[in-house]
This record gives sequence, structure tokens and C-alpha cells, in this order.
Amino acid sequence: MRVVVTGGAGYIGSHMVHVLRERGHVVSVIDSLVTGRREAVPPGVPLLEADVGDRGRVGPFLREQRAEAVLHFAARIQVGESVVDPRRYYTGNLVATVGLLESVLDAGVERLVFSSTAAVYGVPTEVPIPESHATRPVNPYGETKLAAERMLASYARAYGLRYAALRYFNAAGALAEAGLGERHEPETHLIPLVLRAALGEGNPVTVFGRDYPTADGTCVRDYIHVVDLAEAHLAALEYLGGGGEGGAFNLGTGHGYSVAEVIAEAARVAGRPVPTAEGARREGDPPALVADPSLARERLGWRPRRSSLGQILEDAWRFHAAAAR
Ligand code: UFG
Repeated sequence: MRVVVTGGAGYIGSHMVHVLRERGHVVSVIDSLVTGRREAVPPGVPLLEADVGDRGRVGPFLREQRAEAVLHFAARIQVGESVVDPRRYYTGNLVATVGLLESVLDAGVERLVFSSTAAVYGVPTEVPIPESHATRPVNPYGETKLAAERMLASYARAYGLRYAALRYFNAAGALAEAGLGERHEPETHLIPLVLRAALGEGNPVTVFGRDYPTADGTCVRDYIHVVDLAEAHLAALEYLGGGGEGGAFNLGTGHGYSVAEVIAEAARVAGRPVPTAEGARREGDPPALVADPSLARERLGWRPRRSSLGQILEDAWRFHAAAAR
């Protein structure tokens, strides 16, 4: 298959490019390189350095690449930033996706897989969370992703575009042997911060609240290995190609781990202590976010294979330890 990956120089997109190439697909990338890294795109993979909403360049690129499918990862991803600077999210996530879809329709691309998020659910009233759960985002990041999902549903009905919106829970892990892993600037995610603290880089990890209504008082999240996420995109492409009905699918394991459990397991994997500090709750953090992943299992035939907490941390540790050398 000929596939264009937007955000292919970013964390999840770069793993996707790797997995697609391993399976013999023909891949090209669109990335503005604002947060993506050029060195994450392998030599020989065509790269259009452009905003995904740039119709004048993206449409012709999709045609030139004879794209059969688009995997749309490019986005801004920081919840906190979206609250203080929402225009970046409405412009960078929503307006850009509107533009990308113009190019997709113009170029006659029939399949699109969209990176969505568990943030579309807001504060869940039911855990594990099924796709039928109410969507009430509590920040502009989630609002823009939900608006893009709705647009996709309308376009699918009206124009026959076939799509899957994949609602990621907490993406984590790495493919250290390929030199790929999580490296955001600034880093706000728990696992890289914990591993960097174990390496003695930066500050101790602040535990954001120990007074949540969970077993140990810290927040629970459903961590999903980035390679499992990539596999799910491939499964979605195949499913859509086989005439499967589009829509939204949760990508998680169905099992959550608390912040304290992540820190303890990271210390075991790293073989060193993780320096920690106590902090207040971070605004907007729901106590527990855990997926009900049964729809993706039934429809896409996908199940996570690398997403035990130990495996995620071992892979991420190898990446961070190598980067620190
Ligand atoms: N946490 C800490 N200390 C830190 C960083 C995080 O205690 O220094 C805690 C958070 O409070 C949270 C958990 O670790 O309970 C995980 O936090 P992350 O920032 O790693 O991830 P989030 O669950 O906040 O966010 C993830 C994605 C978002 C997405 C969201 C869905 O990164 O893009 O899930 O709600 F929107």
C-alpha cells in the first residue's frame, strides 16, 4: 500500500513509518518539523516539510505519491498548553485537519486514519470507558480532536471517505533498536520524566497528588506501547480496505497502572532509585482513565502485544539510557 504519514517525524508517527516499512508498504511523510525531528525520518522516505493544512503543497504531494491512504498524526498534544493558548489548538489541530481533508478529497484518497485521544471523553463517569461513553472534553485539546472526529463522520457520510478515529489512551514505550523513542520538548509525560530522573537528568519526578479516589491515591492510566499503536493503525487500514464500517475505536489495554506503580516498576527496570517529590494535583487530571478496548479487538482484530508495564518501561529505558550516553 502507498501510505502518507502526517507527523511522521514525531514520536508516534516515526514508529508508524518504521512498522509500515517493515511490512513492505511504500511510505512518505508530511511534517512541519516544528516539533518533529528530521532525523526521525529514515533516508529514502520522501518528506514534505509543510503544514498539513497547506492545500497548495499537500494536495499535489498526495497525488505525486499516489497515496492510497493517509495516517494523520500531526497535532499539538499538550493539554495544559491548550488551556492557556487555545488558538494554537484550534488552528494547529482543527483548521489544519480541515485543510488536510480538502487535500485528501481533492486527491481522491479513500482511506484515512486519525489520531484521536481519550481526552474526548473528559472526566469519565464509567471506567473502563467504552466508545459509547459521552464525549465531554474538559480542555481545548480534547475539543479540537472531537470536532475533527465529527467532521470525519460527516465527510464519510457525504463523500464516501472511509475513516477510523483511534482514541489513544497513554502512548508510551520505544523502539530503541531503531533509535526511536519519546522525546518531547518540553517533556510533560510521566514515563520519560521518571526515566530521566532515574538517570539523574533533570529534576526529581513530582507526583501530582496522592489524594485521588484510587487504590494508592495516585492517578491511574492505561499505558499502551507505541508499537502496539502503530499495529492498530495498520489493522484499521486493512479493516477499512475490507469494507469495514468506520468510526471511533479505543486503543488501550483495559488495564490501568497508578503513578506510584509506574515509579516503582521503573526503579526495578532501571535498577536504580527514582528521585521523587510530592506535588499538588495537576488541574484537569481525571483520577482514572482506562479503555474498554473490546471494539478494536472485535472489529479490527487488534490486541496489544507489547503493553505490559514492564515491557513498556524496559523499551523506554533502553532508549533513554542510550540517549544519555
Ligand atoms: N504525572 C505526574 N507527574 C508528572 C507528570 C505526570 O504525577 O511529572 C501524572 C499525571 O498527573 C497523570 C499521569 O502521571 O496522572 C500521566 O500523565 P501524562 O502527562 O503522562 O499523561 P496524561 O494522562 O495527562 O495525558 C495523556 C496524553 C494526552 C491525552 C491524555 C488523554 O499525553 O495527550 O492522555 O486524556 F490528552
